[in-house]
Amino acid sequence: MLEGKHGEAKAVAMRLLVTLGEIFEAERMVPVNSVQVSGVSFKTIGEPGLQYLEDLSNKGARSTINATTNPAGMDLRRWRRLGVPEHFAKKQLRIVSAFKKMKISTACTCIPYFAGNKPKLGAHIAWAESSAVTFANSVIGARTNREGGPGALASAIVGRTPLYGLHLSKNRKPTHIVNVESPVSSQLEYGALGYTIGERISQSVPLIDGLPRAPNLDELKALGAGMAAAGAVALYHVLGVTPEARNLREDDYRKLETITMGSKEIRETLEKLSTTTEFDHVCLGCPHMSLTELRNVATRVSGKKLKRPIWCFTSRNVHSQAQRKGYVNKITKAGGRVINDTCMVVAPLEEMDVHSVMTDSCKAAHYLPSLCKSKVALGTIDQIVDSST
Ligand code: F3S
Repeated sequence: MLEGKHGEAKAVAMRLLVTLGEIFEAERMVPVNSVQVSGVSFKTIGEPGLQYLEDLSNKGARSTINATTNPAGMDLRRWRRLGVPEHFAKKQLRIVSAFKKMKISTACTCIPYFAGNKPKLGAHIAWAESSAVTFANSVIGARTNREGGPGALASAIVGRTPLYGLHLSKNRKPTHIVNVESPVSSQLEYGALGYTIGERISQSVPLIDGLPRAPNLDELKALGAGMAAAGAVALYHVLGVTPEARNLREDDYRKLETITMGSKEIRETLEKLSTTTEFDHVCLGCPHMSLTELRNVATRVSGKKLKRPIWCFTSRNVHSQAQRKGYVNKITKAGGRVINDTCMVVAPLEEMDVHSVMTDSCKAAHYLPSLCKSKVALGTIDQIVDSST
């Protein structure tokens, strides 16, 4: 492949992966059976990214394995109704066409594991998108480094990734214990706990202990997203809960450095990330909402009239399931919207008359001020629904 015997596109992809492997001193390549590609929104990759993708697709690049894309910059079907500018939409549609030509599923979601791309425990995969990476490593127990968009795309084209970092068992062991001293009472607080951990230990592998009960999947999703946004954490363990920490013995971790956290640290993080109490829009779904989260919102707004529309971001796949269960109908009847293919961070909110956002996501609160020039109010789902009805 490297010598071009399988075509130019594979040679380009392989060159990139070999270079990565050399930098990180990988011994060899390993086959992967699942890829998540980031760098899909025109807002984040711009004209050079669009050119790169079109060029690669014209050179004959085709995915050989199950590969999905991260959110694009707009709802691909209803972008006009949401106020996305025409000039942006044209470029975005070209990006999506390039991915389609490369046989990459344009699922446009950061929760591919709820949209038909769920690897198995121990599988070697190549995922980009920090929150998805953290979920795949920690909650599913698959093995991926924190890939960039081009690296993940190269892996989709050649079906391989360099064997280093979190693909190796020795690098997946906990490096620190995080002892949580107080109850964590909402998904918002799980996100804030994750954010605080990410700030404190960045590239390490935390083992979280002391939680009063096993967190559910949405809480784990928020925990990992917070960690990956504030630091470069790509793998965490929750003692007795996540797959690689279910059977740990005390001897495996008792000598590790222990960090203690509780309600004070969580409160301080929430205060730091909240920059306003006034807001013009409400956005949920960073990472994209699961079916359970949509059900919760639908139940809470059912029969009410929202003063401000709640925008719920999710994948088309989860949207369809929610539609069949009647959740979408309840949310739209109340005046909310279920939006697909995009999210509050990678959509051009700054060009859509959105200036301040209330959300329950610490990851979104981290990125909204810089990427969308938006102020942020953080609240739990209950606070958000109360303030909108
Ligand atoms: Fe997903 Fe967008 Fe947040 S890609 S994790 S919803 S910033």
